[in-house]
Amino acid sequence: MLEKNILRDILELSGEIILLTDMDYNFLLINYEFENIIGLSKKQILKAKLTDFIKEKKDLIELSQIPKTLTFISKSGEKYPFYIQHVTRDHYLPDKKKAILWIGVPKASTELKKFQKELIRLNRMAEVGQLASGIVHELRNPLAIINQASGWGKTLISDNKKKLGQDGDELERVFEEIESQTIRCRDITDELLNFVRELSTEKKEFSPIKLIESTLTLINADLKSPKIIIEKKYEHRERLIKSDFRIIQQILINLLSNAIYAIREKNIMDGKITIITQDQGNMFKIIIKDNGKGISQKDQEKIFDIFFTTKPRGQGTGLGLALCRDIISKLGGEIGFSSKYMEGSEFYITFPINGS
Ligand SMILES: Nc1ncnc2c1ncn2[C@@H]1O[C@H](COP(=O)(O)OP(=O)(O)OP(=O)(O)O)[C@@H](O)[C@H]1O
Ligand SMILES: [Mg+2]
Repeated sequence: MLEKNILRDILELSGEIILLTDMDYNFLLINYEFENIIGLSKKQILKAKLTDFIKEKKDLIELSQIPKTLTFISKSGEKYPFYIQHVTRDHYLPDKKKAILWIGVPKASTELKKFQKELIRLNRMAEVGQLASGIVHELRNPLAIINQASGWGKTLISDNKKKLGQDGDELERVFEEIESQTIRCRDITDELLNFVRELSTEKKEFSPIKLIESTLTLINADLKSPKIIIEKKYEHRERLIKSDFRIIQQILINLLSNAIYAIREKNIMDGKITIITQDQGNMFKIIIKDNGKGISQKDQEKIFDIFFTTKPRGQGTGLGLALCRDIISKLGGEIGFSSKYMEGSEFYITFPINGS
């Protein structure tokens, strides 16, 4: 009996979707997470078939492939991709009829991890780039001086060829070698500079509101169970900005995932994230406010430190905010926050509207 109750709670509280269907995909059992995603009541869903909520029916056939994914379509038409495991058994039902047990993990949390990895990679590349461009700048001047000096040496030799005799020929060859190797060094440094230029951020014109909206779609699955409400207070919706879309999106994902984590940690059912945009003339500001567990006074000094995390071992790298700060400063903006322990936190980023 105890076991049965525990199993029921696992079924209902799980952040994964758990379904049981017969061999014709009629639902026999669904859990709360599935109701949540589809946006219909248990009663309504149980009347339908699994195939009614799937984007492509052929996906069911392709489930033998790896990775096994299914995209569910909610009542309002939103798409929810899941990694799926399924087994067919004949001992679930009393009449020994076969039934399929489906378990799905949202793909979005894996997407998040992918984004974070990408952020680290981008930052490393930018660091290598910065180092390289510093070295290149340092090398260009001495190289130009060597080049000039060898040219001057060659002139001296040809003016005094008679005096120098055979040594003159030898010296001429030496200076030619110096000159050609200097040119080679210059070519290498030029190439490095081109490489560094390619690494620099890619600034294009886009709507910051569209950027926020597309970021929210990416993290949508992480806002379910218990549901987190997103409140939007957008100012100047029509505003276009010139900046790096992908980089700002990665920063937003980091801030949003921190906010979601803080809300989950507080264990509340009325989690809320407010997104505010402000046009400040030269700068555009995005504020992400949460009613999560907040940050203690002691930790507030440390949150931007590299590897600082309060997450359990293996769950956080503590790189998120450190990288966000580094990257936003490369875009000419800044990041800041205010927080009250057990009440919530507010993080903001600003960046130049015209890209510089
Ligand atoms: N919105 C927030 N609410 C409460 N605490 C926060 C919030 N954002 C960040 N923090 C605190 O700052 C710490 C550092 O955040 P950061 O994003 O750098 O790393 P992380 O989230 O712990 O790990 P990772 O980002 O690598 O998964 C967090 O562990 C948490 O203690
Ligand atoms: Mg983080």
